[in-house]
Amino acid sequence: NMNFRFGIWFAVPLILFWETPEVTSSWWYMGVVGSSRVMCDNVPGLVSRQRQLCQRHPEAMRSIGLGVAEWTAECQHQFRQHRWNCNTLHWDRSLFGRVLLRSSRESAFVYAISSAGVVFAITRACSQGELKSCSCDPKKKGSAKDNKGHFDWGGCSDNVDYGVKFARAFVDAKERKGKDARALMNLHNNRAGRKAVKRFLKQECKCHGVSGSCTLRTCWLAMADFRKTGDYLWRKYNGAIQVVMNQDGTGFTVANKKFKKPTKNDLVYFESSPDYCIRDRDVGSLGTAGRVCNQTSHGMDSCEVMCCGRGYDTSRISRMTKCECKFHWCCAVRCQDCLEVVDVHTCKAPKSAGWIART
Ligand SMILES: *[C@@H]1O[C@H](CO)[C@@H](O)[C@H](O)[C@H]1NC(C)=O
Repeated sequence: NMNFRFGIWFAVPLILFWETPEVTSSWWYMGVVGSSRVMCDNVPGLVSRQRQLCQRHPEAMRSIGLGVAEWTAECQHQFRQHRWNCNTLHWDRSLFGRVLLRSSRESAFVYAISSAGVVFAITRACSQGELKSCSCDPKKKGSAKDNKGHFDWGGCSDNVDYGVKFARAFVDAKERKGKDARALMNLHNNRAGRKAVKRFLKQECKCHGVSGSCTLRTCWLAMADFRKTGDYLWRKYNGAIQVVMNQDGTGFTVANKKFKKPTKNDLVYFESSPDYCIRDRDVGSLGTAGRVCNQTSHGMDSCEVMCCGRGYDTSRISRMTKCECKFHWCCAVRCQDCLEVVDVHTCKAPKSAGWIART
């Protein structure tokens, strides 16, 4: 029964989004209805090529739906101490951070991480046998050799090539080909994101042979935790390169000749970022009013930087924590519940009336 199956597929992301209200991607609610045609016609923000892929691979859409929550959480983790903390994404009812209207560094990061997220989600779904169109990597068969000797490829190697192919077809379909600067930037960052996932494939092995002597090994390739990709893209975000489109509209040149030319792994952007201090939908900024800041830090999360010099409010809250923990032989730790009183600092809102009018 198709209706039932779709119900199950889409119940999972629904639950996920329920638990993380910041990522209300309401387009998934559409999925609860009948056929894949109906479903795909109701996912907002898909271009026609993406609708075709959706109809051909409805089960892949479910994997991508789970991925949205994962890469949004990863983005929010990486930016947790920054004024822009990735929360603007929930304004966007389509799949990928369209809401960051400027072609800024943050935008470059969002495109890269969401494209990486699709690779990751599709590849994992392949290995778990959830997609009809792919399975474990068929090329990883037979025997091979490394510095520890011979081994057999066995088990299920993650089919990241399929994930990359699918992500390229699906995510890049959104961009107009041709002399469109923004499309060129997005395509570049999408590719950097796809390549990032491939960096963190690791060989995992299991030893056989006499009492684990490891004379016989079976190995497979597995993707590392998505955090690795997130950390890597975060470093690329910090080293992102500002570019301008070249004369014939086919590529970039670096904006400031003192900096190196971007490689395929680098993130590129055109416009400098807004300061994200005040709420401004036009640039994808929520502002920092009400954000928690750290009074003792000297970094981006310090009250001075986070609150943009507007000052902050301090409130005293009490919360329960585990304390006076004792180790009991053997092997348990027993703790008491203690009431802890802490000061929480939150940024003041700007005073100008212009801000009120804009919200
Ligand atoms: C605040 O910043 C200090 C210094 O960087 C750090 O040691 C501390 O853990 C931070 N506190 C919180 C609550 O993040």
